[in-house]
Amino acid sequence: MDRLNDKRIVAGVTVVAVMVGAAAMFFLNKRNRTSLTSRSTLQPAYEQAIAQIKQKFEVPTDYIQRIKEGMESEFKLGLSKPTGEKPSSIKMLPSFIDRIPTGHETGISYALDIGGSNLRTMKLELDGHGKVKTILIRKSSISHELQTGDADALFDFIAASIGDVVDETAESNNFGFTFSFPVDQTDVSSGKLIKWTKGFQTKNVEGQDVVELLNNALERSGIRAKVTVLINDTVGTLISSAYDPSDGETVAGVILGTGTNASYIESKANIEKLETGEKEGVMVINTEWGNFDSPAYSVLEPTEFDLTIDKNSPNFSCQHFEKMVSGMYLGEIVRLALVDFAEAGFFSHRNSSYILTPYRFGTEFMSEIERDDTMQLIHVDAFLKRIDINNTSYQERKLLKELCHAVALRSARLVSGAIAAIVDRMGKKDTKSVVAIDGALFEHYPGYAGHIEQGLKEIGYNNVVLKLIKEGSGYGAAIAANVMSSTE
Ligand code: GLC
Repeated sequence: MDRLNDKRIVAGVTVVAVMVGAAAMFFLNKRNRTSLTSRSTLQPAYEQAIAQIKQKFEVPTDYIQRIKEGMESEFKLGLSKPTGEKPSSIKMLPSFIDRIPTGHETGISYALDIGGSNLRTMKLELDGHGKVKTILIRKSSISHELQTGDADALFDFIAASIGDVVDETAESNNFGFTFSFPVDQTDVSSGKLIKWTKGFQTKNVEGQDVVELLNNALERSGIRAKVTVLINDTVGTLISSAYDPSDGETVAGVILGTGTNASYIESKANIEKLETGEKEGVMVINTEWGNFDSPAYSVLEPTEFDLTIDKNSPNFSCQHFEKMVSGMYLGEIVRLALVDFAEAGFFSHRNSSYILTPYRFGTEFMSEIERDDTMQLIHVDAFLKRIDINNTSYQERKLLKELCHAVALRSARLVSGAIAAIVDRMGKKDTKSVVAIDGALFEHYPGYAGHIEQGLKEIGYNNVVLKLIKEGSGYGAAIAANVMSSTE
């Protein structure tokens, strides 16, 4: 009897143990399942927040079309003689470059290239087969002090970098100067800075001839060099691409980097405001499209973040298109939106200096974030840790990734309207045309080029080839110096 009881007790304990074990496994599994799914399933509040982001930054096809039409009419107005009525927001600056290279040019040329905060001086050789060889290059960055200080300090610094590259006989050589700001030119080798863009504020340069400022600095330092051609970086990009015509005829040069702008080849006969009597042939026009829709917004649809950027910038009510498109501003748009999300309780890392400090969240961060295709966004997590943002939830990371995507997508789709406007202006909608593009946003942002192509297709532009041109702005200066100094 006792034995029987013992057996029953043992059996009972076993059953209970098995049941407890099974229950434990069940709950354990369930917990694991919920923790895995909860990390990759969005809570409804986050779903809603992401839907709002998409809507806020959306650029439907008809908006692309409106950008194209708006730009085209500003192009036309910008080329006409000033009437005293409302001027065009797009300056359409004649570059006085009226010879396009063939690729057969040869010889040594020098280039000085000032883009955003980077400066490059180069000694280059044109090989006569569409290729440029770098013989010497010096790179430096223009400090915040120089960007906000006085003209002489900035130009002395530039002159010193030239001194490192030119040789004794440089004075007689071709010397191209790429100055990536809006310049009013009356000939190919001089021009007055109209207004600083991209955060530059150096004093006593606006309204001055930048070539004269540079030549004075060269003289002060006893460096034997003289600028023979002054160009914009978009012009350099166009010229550099034209030098290698293997991909087809280049119609435009575009920069999508710290700033944005484009130049294209126009018939002189259409440049009504050009004072020289000559109406034969072509000339490259630097559009300065970054200023489109300024000072008042009428085509662009800014968000509250765009308005804040404009209000706090040193060039308020200028460069509205650039401020919604280019690399200098995209990260700041994301940062401002994140601050809002933090206030609304969707992002709990507002104390990070990268979120607190204006312009600290760079567009290159957005590229890193967008590149992560893992389910749990583990690379975003690792990246955020590197910039002192720890312990993010999946919900927060997903929100951030969608935000970056929406801001970059809007930029690319706005650009597609602008490129279509140029292609249309040149009457090239139905023929293959190469648009040469330089700049980190275009080169490195994941999916960016594809977004532009998609936008172009939606409005019926299927023949545009977007061609990445590296170092185009500097190379183009050297090529332009060679072409323009030739006596043929
Ligand atoms: C800014 C400048 C313009 C330049 C562009 C790209 O928009 O005003 O001249 O081409 O940035 O660097």
